[in-house]
Amino acid sequence: MTVTESPAVVHSPGAPPPDGPLCKGRAIVIGASSGIGAALVRRLVADGYRVAALARRGERLAELEQELGEAALTRVHDVTDRQVVPVLFEDLVRGLGGLDLLVYAAGIMPKVGPQEYDTEKDVAILETNLCGMIAWGNEAARLFGSQRRGTICGISSIAGVRGRRGQPVYGTSKAAMDHYLEALRNRLDEYGVHVVTIRPGFVETEMTAGLGLRGAISADQAARGIQRAIERHATVRYLPRRWWLVAQIVRSIPSFFFRRMSI
Ligand SMILES: NC(=O)c1ccc[n+]([C@@H]2O[C@H](COP(=O)([O-])OP(=O)(O)OC[C@H]3O[C@@H](n4cnc5c(N)ncnc54)[C@H](OP(=O)(O)O)[C@@H]3O)[C@@H](O)[C@H]2O)c1
Repeated sequence: MTVTESPAVVHSPGAPPPDGPLCKGRAIVIGASSGIGAALVRRLVADGYRVAALARRGERLAELEQELGEAALTRVHDVTDRQVVPVLFEDLVRGLGGLDLLVYAAGIMPKVGPQEYDTEKDVAILETNLCGMIAWGNEAARLFGSQRRGTICGISSIAGVRGRRGQPVYGTSKAAMDHYLEALRNRLDEYGVHVVTIRPGFVETEMTAGLGLRGAISADQAARGIQRAIERHATVRYLPRRWWLVAQIVRSIPSFFFRRMSI
């Protein structure tokens, strides 16, 4: 099902979440054409959600739509195209019949050489991983605040906990995303809105293909963890959970030693 353009959506504060007894909720997933986002769309639909799935690769979205049927609607969208977000958001909310959950999973992590300082590449990472999160997060925050319920979930990364030499700007985008999500959580808590930060460790997806990451979990395992974190109104969740310990250790390494490490 593809949503048609529509000028506005009627927000209904305090309205009951789902449409009918069989719909558990309504969700928008951005970055849904592969990896963690696509796996989460499948899980949410299996759980009874009606989901709008967005990304740039229309052919992948069409496959998802064919697989999942009426419960999934798709829209081709490039998150760097921020000016369309307010109208698109309203259009999707209207098409879904309301909104309970926004998940931002869009992200890029291009290869960066050890002596590479390419500003255009770095800005592209920030535009996708951070500015898109803010553009979509702000729309959801406004709606959820007014209806006094809803959940915003951002897929951050373990890479945001420390400034590693290998990926200076990817890590920056995730650290800034963590900061934005924490601030949203603190703003929206009194309105009954939940904000969930997910920090995956290693996940087998197109982003990490060929990197030979040991101990990586599947995208579906990651999606299951995200779904649980959303259901339990977690604040920050590492996936798998052992990455919490890794984060504490990495944070505690003095800068003098950290800068001599190859991670
Ligand atoms: N894999 C890991 O080990 C790992 C670890 C920590 C965090 N993460 C985070 O998890 C999230 C999902 O990544 P993944 O591992 O599932 O990789 P992936 O399979 O490459 O998925 C990335 C998704 O982002 C979308 N995307 C990228 N640029 C976009 C743009 N300009 N506009 C709209 N959508 C865009 C892609 O769709 P299109 O290309 O079709 O647009 C795709 O659906 C990312 O934020 C990543 O940083 C991954």
